[in-house]
Amino acid sequence: MSLQIGRNIFGDASNTNNVLTREEAMELLRSWVLNPKLQLHMLQVANLMKNWAEEKLQLHPQEVWKWELAGLLHDADWDQWPELHCKKIIDELENRKIDPMIIHAIASHGPAHFGVLPETEMDKMLYAFDELSGLIHAYSLMRPNGYEGMDVKGVKKRFKEKSFAANVSRDEITEACTMAGIDLDTLIAFIIAKQPAVTMQ
Ligand SMILES: [Fe+2]
Ligand SMILES: [Fe+2]
Repeated sequence: MSLQIGRNIFGDASNTNNVLTREEAMELLRSWVLNPKLQLHMLQVANLMKNWAEEKLQLHPQEVWKWELAGLLHDADWDQWPELHCKKIIDELENRKIDPMIIHAIASHGPAHFGVLPETEMDKMLYAFDELSGLIHAYSLMRPNGYEGMDVKGVKKRFKEKSFAANVSRDEITEACTMAGIDLDTLIAFIIAKQPAVTMQ
């Protein structure tokens, strides 16, 4: 099954700054994603993107929402149409005339799978947060107190342990950090600090 998208240009520049409202995005997420674990993953990545844009980059709220939206919808089609991941959500957002920057970020969140390289800072951070937040969440589930007292060292131990969360590609995480120009420890510490706030509603 090839998920290669086969193109590099998404959306239309005339749609810059067009976004979904939070209600529209949540409606799409809830109707397309039936698996609560995947819903949680998307909320977690959205929260990390939001916090990074806000705290580290101090972007304008309008820009912050674009970052959050990319996180919120990046896996929208994975649950029901895995063979169309992430072509279906790209089509949907193009039809709804959404800002091309958001669509490009979604299209490049797995370069090895989709064949689209992360270019912008938003692209690179979505790629960097995606798999690593999943690994850290898996670690929280096996700890008696979840995220409480979790430290970078413990996460790195799990990171090096290939049998732990074996489906999480360490190579992709390492590549994403290099692309984003951020070291792994910094990223882990950020996720440990921000992720506990996100729980299933
Ligand atoms: Fe994905
Ligand atoms: Fe994901």
